[in-house]
Amino acid sequence: MSYSSFELLDHSRPILVFGRDGQVGKALQVCLKDLQVPAVFLGRSDCDLVSEFSIIEMLNRYQPQVIINAAAYTAVDEAERERELAFTINAKAPELMARYIANVANGVLVHYSTDYVFADAKKEAYLETDLVGPIEHLNVYGQSKLAGELAIEAVFNLARYSGRPSYADKFASYFILRTSWVYGDGSNFIRTMLRLASERDKLKVVADQMGAPTSAQWLAEVGIQIAGSRVKSGIYHAVPDGETSWHGLAVFAIETAATCGEGIEVKSENILPIPATNYPVPARRPYNSRLSNAKLKKAMLEMAFTSEYPHWQEQVEVYVKEYVSNSLKS
Ligand SMILES: NC(=O)c1ccc[n+]([C@@H]2O[C@H](COP(=O)([O-])OP(=O)(O)OC[C@H]3O[C@@H](n4cnc5c(N)ncnc54)[C@H](OP(=O)(O)O)[C@@H]3O)[C@@H](O)[C@H]2O)c1
Repeated sequence: MSYSSFELLDHSRPILVFGRDGQVGKALQVCLKDLQVPAVFLGRSDCDLVSEFSIIEMLNRYQPQVIINAAAYTAVDEAERERELAFTINAKAPELMARYIANVANGVLVHYSTDYVFADAKKEAYLETDLVGPIEHLNVYGQSKLAGELAIEAVFNLARYSGRPSYADKFASYFILRTSWVYGDGSNFIRTMLRLASERDKLKVVADQMGAPTSAQWLAEVGIQIAGSRVKSGIYHAVPDGETSWHGLAVFAIETAATCGEGIEVKSENILPIPATNYPVPARRPYNSRLSNAKLKKAMLEMAFTSEYPHWQEQVEVYVKEYVSNSLKS
């Protein structure tokens, strides 16, 4: 991936990254350090997103031109009983970030969101222009992430239409990157499956929910690249090509790990597909998590991305092989 357009940014001001210790946050650290771009990475101990005061203090202290918000309340089932907390972190905090950046000349806010803003209103891949919801079918996490998207858009719309002539050619931009089934350096479905596959000789995995597993490393690269670009503000679906079910992903990841020759107890034929109804969880999940990536692909052409657009299988293969090799070393 080329980062040429990144040079458009003012490097004298650090990029401010929220969510340092999450999967995407850790990947952002790797990418930005590789690029030797000045950046400040904030974890919960530096800035608790529950505290408006703490967020504003950080914004005033670092005066960023670019914010990348990879922090979120991501405990989907727990959110059902922690509604207020989920909304504070997933909606109120990004709104404060947006309010700050919208008033910065050439400012940029990159914010990650989710396929859970959709709830099976459609069977095909969702476009960015599709209606979200229906709201009463969204789980609380999905509602809170949607509230975050809407808050960011409202702030930027207000800034644009309330007329600041001096900023006419320097309007701040926002990019909401909706993604799905993220895996990186942290707890995730793939790691859980590999652990279970080393402990058990039979697994049952949900086979009727469809989506695209997405690499945190790639999401970090897309976030950085889009921050440095001048593509149009808005929502972009950031997922690789292809689709699968949780069962398909489990089989692929476990078979890949088995080719590395270590520690897999379960045979592919003993990874059994089950319907989601056989695996009850507190928060309702969509059956269709497919997101169309056509808009992002087109934007990538404008941004002169040099690398091929990835397929989920290529990225999961690299991830599993690296993970197995690192686990063997430790
Ligand atoms: N994971 C997925 O499958 C998935 C799917 C679709 C979309 N997304 C979106 O992608 C983005 C990145 O996800 P991820 O997988 O990297 O998430 P993650 O690994 O759960 O990381 C989230 C980070 O947010 C931080 N955080 C939570 N509450 C906070 C608070 N009150 N103050 C400060 N920091 C707080 C957490 O801090 P601690 O480390 O201290 O807990 C954690 O480091 C999120 O916007 C998420 O909604 C994720």
